[in-house]
Amino acid sequence: MKVLAIYGSPRKNGNTAKMLDAALSEFPPEAEIKRLYLADLNFSGCCATRDCKTLGYCPINDDMQQIYRDLLWAEIIIFGSPSQFADVSALIKKLMERTWWMKGALRNKIGGYVITGRRYIESTINTLHAFMLRHQMILGGSGALGYTFTEMGGLEYDPLALRDARYTGRRLVELYQLIYGNKN
Ligand SMILES: Cc1cc2nc3c(=O)[nH]c(=O)nc-3n(C[C@H](O)[C@H](O)[C@H](O)COP(=O)(O)O)c2cc1C
Repeated sequence: MKVLAIYGSPRKNGNTAKMLDAALSEFPPEAEIKRLYLADLNFSGCCATRDCKTLGYCPINDDMQQIYRDLLWAEIIIFGSPSQFADVSALIKKLMERTWWMKGALRNKIGGYVITGRRYIESTINTLHAFMLRHQMILGGSGALGYTFTEMGGLEYDPLALRDARYTGRRLVELYQLIYGNKN
């Protein structure tokens, strides 16, 4: 079971990371879990030259090249995103744009997410769903939201957040077992 966890908040130890860690805590010990902290990586959004259309790959030489390898390696991809200005974080949006050339390459990978925020979270959810459906991934999880108040506090005000995040993890494991049986 190859799991790629994409930490999409600029804050590596914030609410979103706690939600993602809770989801990951439900994976069995045999699972190979790779954690990607986007805040540590140096990559741009899509430059829209459309060179990838002729090349069949993205020619921008930055840390996204390693992320491509990780995305291709993974059987389960789980995003953690804060809602920032009513959408996924800019870090996640950049990653999404850069997968434009990968048509079909993520097909049938199991995808899930956890998000944090309080307002306008619907568009954050919508962007994550659109990404996974556009790539023909298998959308799983349970739509876990950690309800946070930026200035007043974090997940401690939402007693259900970490429980829901763990449920998302369990659901992704369940989907994996349905599809792959007990292969690890
Ligand atoms: C630039 C910026 C924009 C934000 N926009 C929203 C927003 O539109 N809706 C919302 O509910 N929270 C918004 N927030 C609050 C974060 O989503 C919230 O604090 C989140 O839990 C932060 O996650 P973190 O602790 O992992 O960084 C924003 C925060 C930042 C820094």
